[in-house]
Amino acid sequence: PSNIGILALEIYFPNQYCDQAELEQFDGVSAGKYTIGLGQAQLGFCYPDEDVNSMALTVTQNLLQRNKISTHQIGFLEVGTETLIDKSKSTKTYLMQLFGDNSRIEGVDVKNACFGGTQALFHAVNWLESSYCDGRLALVVCSDIAVYARGPARCTGGAGAVAVLLGPDAPLVFDSRVRALHMAHEFDFYKPDPSSEYATVDGQASVRCYLSALDSCYMLFREQLAKADGTDILSAKQPRYYCFHTPFSRLVQKSFARLAYLDCALRQKHGGPGNGIDKCFAGFESLTLEQSRSSKEFESVCLKASQGQFDEQASPCLLLARRTGNMYTPSVYASLVSCLIGASPSELVGQRIALFSYGSGLAAAMFSVTCTDDPHRLAQLIGSLSHVTGWLDDRKKVTPEEFHRVLQEREEAYAKKPEPYSAESPRFGGLRGGTHYLAGIDSSWRRTYRVW
Ligand code: ACO
Repeated sequence: PSNIGILALEIYFPNQYCDQAELEQFDGVSAGKYTIGLGQAQLGFCYPDEDVNSMALTVTQNLLQRNKISTHQIGFLEVGTETLIDKSKSTKTYLMQLFGDNSRIEGVDVKNACFGGTQALFHAVNWLESSYCDGRLALVVCSDIAVYARGPARCTGGAGAVAVLLGPDAPLVFDSRVRALHMAHEFDFYKPDPSSEYATVDGQASVRCYLSALDSCYMLFREQLAKADGTDILSAKQPRYYCFHTPFSRLVQKSFARLAYLDCALRQKHGGPGNGIDKCFAGFESLTLEQSRSSKEFESVCLKASQGQFDEQASPCLLLARRTGNMYTPSVYASLVSCLIGASPSELVGQRIALFSYGSGLAAAMFSVTCTDDPHRLAQLIGSLSHVTGWLDDRKKVTPEEFHRVLQEREEAYAKKPEPYSAESPRFGGLRGGTHYLAGIDSSWRRTYRVW
């Protein structure tokens, strides 16, 4: 099989959100902290009649229906999630309810913070390239609910799911031999407490880990791209767009700003001609990589120098993240969805898109896809996402009080044996038609789902 890549994408996010400016006021922080300091406009969250299984069911069903894929065409399916509702039974097995008599589907769940979906995607590509693949397609589903204890991290929550259909002759083809990995042992964000759904998080440390993983991945990515292109490192075809795992948008702007600096460092190392922004970094040559990550003065130099490029190459990919928050595993793929819906097919023809995936603990990778030269196929892919902005605009805004109240309720119910119930319709309303919801839990903790 050749040209293995992404055939189709589908996204799901809850139908309600909280406004970040209102949340600043309610939380008593200075105006602008969440909206400017973190770059977030809105935050999506779930009522208790949705969970990661229901969101995964919805996004998978919608992907199959919208793209007219028969359940028999799928031979591999893995799920990335860090929102565990069962320590043994995987979300993948819940999804088997959608596949009728096709029980011959390889794969289970993959877990490591926000990285599980990317590892599932790598597994899917490996399967498609292997002797075990029988010509069927692969599906990767990411689904998470990001909630934090009350305090400074809570505003960086979010929720959502993404489904990615993979196979040969794709409109977005993975650049083979380009998988720049960085894995390490860190305690920046982890979930060791079985009595709580919340992460144990050192926010500032997690940002440092993210940026240091980005530096490693990017330098390796540039080397791998050059080898794959058969050119020297400075002339390899550069990505037109950058999609990042997005805990909050401002971190992505800072990340992109680092790439401008790393590019300059590469040009100096390889004796290439400087470009217009290199002179901005004059006077900082003596900084080590680590020092360059911790200097606020240098950070603002990088941000200023890269602003124009950021607006063109990364900002369009933040549309969903700014308005839904951090979806965890789906986040980097939501960024790809944003990139596609913000671009026209002619802009994408033949272009490369880079993706940076980060999961605390930690596991990170930078890799890329190249868009087909066929504008009709790109138009088809973009067209299949034309409902997404309408979905964003049609969501219901709820008050910060209500948002905190729902999280309080969730916190009190967590890890306790649920009261058995069975519901004919969503108990909390407000779902889009066609959404799966949690319709019941019985006395043996068995969950059942229905479509609204
Ligand atoms: N107007 C404009 N900007 C403001 C204002 C204001 N009124 N007030 C504060 N700011 C700025 C700050 O200067 C800071 O910007 P800077 O970093 O560029 O200097 C920014 O807003 C955030 O303020 P901090 O005081 O640094 O925020 P705090 O430490 O309270 O929380 C944090 C931020 C650490 C990101 C927290 O939300 C968190 O822990 N989130 C969860 C962890 C996370 O998302 N980590 C990222 C990678 S791992 C992952 O994906 C889960």
